[in-house]
Amino acid sequence: MILKKVNHKELEDRIVTFEYESNYYYDIEVRKETDGWKISLKLKRFKEPFRKVHMEKLIDYYKKDTLIYVAEVDGKEAGIIQFGGIWDGSVRIWDIYVWKEFKRMGIGTALMRKAEEIASSWGARRLVLETQTSNYVAIKFYESCGFQLCGFDLSSYSNTDVEKHEVRLEMEKKLR
Ligand SMILES: CC(C)(COP(=O)(O)OP(=O)(O)OC[C@H]1O[C@@H](n2cnc3c(N)ncnc32)[C@H](O)[C@@H]1OP(=O)(O)O)[C@@H](O)C(=O)NCCC(=O)NCCS
Repeated sequence: MILKKVNHKELEDRIVTFEYESNYYYDIEVRKETDGWKISLKLKRFKEPFRKVHMEKLIDYYKKDTLIYVAEVDGKEAGIIQFGGIWDGSVRIWDIYVWKEFKRMGIGTALMRKAEEIASSWGARRLVLETQTSNYVAIKFYESCGFQLCGFDLSSYSNTDVEKHEVRLEMEKKLR
């Protein structure tokens, strides 16, 4: 496997299909108590496997000053990562995808290590990213890379994210 830095020009019109299936979700509950809030995230099983397919432009105006690396195996694209935009010492991982036939071969980990190495060379204090309570595999993957939960937003995508079990989570990895 090799990791190649790719020029934005080459990927200008690229649409990526973000796809995953999940048997589990983290059920989030935020309860107001007299002396504060009680927040819990409990692992639960979906009644039916949850399938998500979402298409988006890889390069978009809000992903500022990013770098893109592609992982190649035998000349075939196996995965991609987009990260960048250092802000208050944080570098955001905007996208990480490994295509189906290349999953569970360490490619996601290699892409994440590359982002970590570059963010560290910029003097960043942490990597940060967004995922969802429904994306169990991604959460496991991020944990295996050393990320931990650092925040959530109960209605980032819609006013029924909690009921849909698709609540936005923020995860971070401190670099120093
Ligand atoms: C999440 C994703 C990037 C992981 O990429 P990958 O190359 O398959 O991951 P790796 O092979 O480097 O896995 C590293 C570790 O992550 C964890 N992990 C990865 N896939 C897992 C799975 N299906 N179930 C449980 N743990 C998993 C394991 O701890 C694994 O180590 P191990 O294989 O030694 O047990 C990939 O599954 C993917 O592209 N998913 C769809 C897109 C997506 O959800 N992106 C994230 C958006 S928030």
